[in-house]
Amino acid sequence: MKKIILTGIKPSGELHLGNYFAVMEPAIKMQDQGQAVYFIAQYHALTTLTKADELRRYTFDIAAGFLACGIDPARTILFRQSDVPQVHELAWLLSVVTPTGLLERAHAYKDKIAQGFETNHGLFAYPVLMAADILLYNSDFVPVGKDQKQHLEIARDIAQKFNDRFGPVFKLPEPVIQEATATFSGIDGRKMSKSYGNVIPLFGDEKEIKKAVMSIKTDSTPIEQPKQIEGTVLGQLMQAVNPGAYGDFVAQAATPGVGYGDLKKKLLAEITTRFRPYQEKYRHYQAHPDEVEAILCDGASRARELAAPVLAAARQATGLSK
Ligand code: TRP
Repeated sequence: MKKIILTGIKPSGELHLGNYFAVMEPAIKMQDQGQAVYFIAQYHALTTLTKADELRRYTFDIAAGFLACGIDPARTILFRQSDVPQVHELAWLLSVVTPTGLLERAHAYKDKIAQGFETNHGLFAYPVLMAADILLYNSDFVPVGKDQKQHLEIARDIAQKFNDRFGPVFKLPEPVIQEATATFSGIDGRKMSKSYGNVIPLFGDEKEIKKAVMSIKTDSTPIEQPKQIEGTVLGQLMQAVNPGAYGDFVAQAATPGVGYGDLKKKLLAEITTRFRPYQEKYRHYQAHPDEVEAILCDGASRARELAAPVLAAARQATGLSK
């Protein structure tokens, strides 16, 4: 039996290079390591998104974007969370074994309170639904960013509590924490994030991408002096976009007479070379949304097949069914 590698991607904004390197590229690589099960976590996005059109658009964006960048739907199960609403039944069965205190200690929830966010029950129950996502498909490995580590610990706790009370139904999932790319910098040096307005869009048009790259923050080293590029935003981007060209880039930066403008142009050219094929595929899917729809529907039906025996076992263990 192939190991199940599962992760959820929250549709919360247009995709950018930070998403690509932190989430998409690792997910694409992991397709070879087992049965990949990737879903678009719309129910989780709804705890903060309020516009139906945005949820629709971002959901499509993730599906088309992942497919364009190399998710192979013949192998990988790619689906929308909302196409397998059985997850909510499992979430309820998990809710009844989840101590309130466990959820009150969740950093993500506490941060929302600290930010003065008007919290809701969805935000509070977020880790329970996430546990249901993971346990419903008998997941072995769950690749996530560092910020989701605690949610995974909570999922394991919940699974254990359910097993203790009702018998051994759930496998305890192993987190796979992606440390390296957890803090991919945006053009102003802070973490690349839509909410900071510092992103380089993955599928933006040429002008948008150029504008973002040319406004990458640099220091004021004059053109005739060598520049130290390692550890800077420019350096990190170049290393991610074309590791093979990174050495040359560092040397070029250290050459008197080479300015930041020249380095940015070089980076822009590398971004264009690397991402143009994906952008073309993405535009293809934009023009043929029915192809994306068919892939997602097929993914959902395969996901339901995985889920059915697990949900049946949980119903049986709790006494809901014979
Ligand atoms: N909470 C995750 C995030 O914000 C998304 C997510 C939802 C998820 N359900 C999941 C990730 C299950 C892994 C497994 O990134």
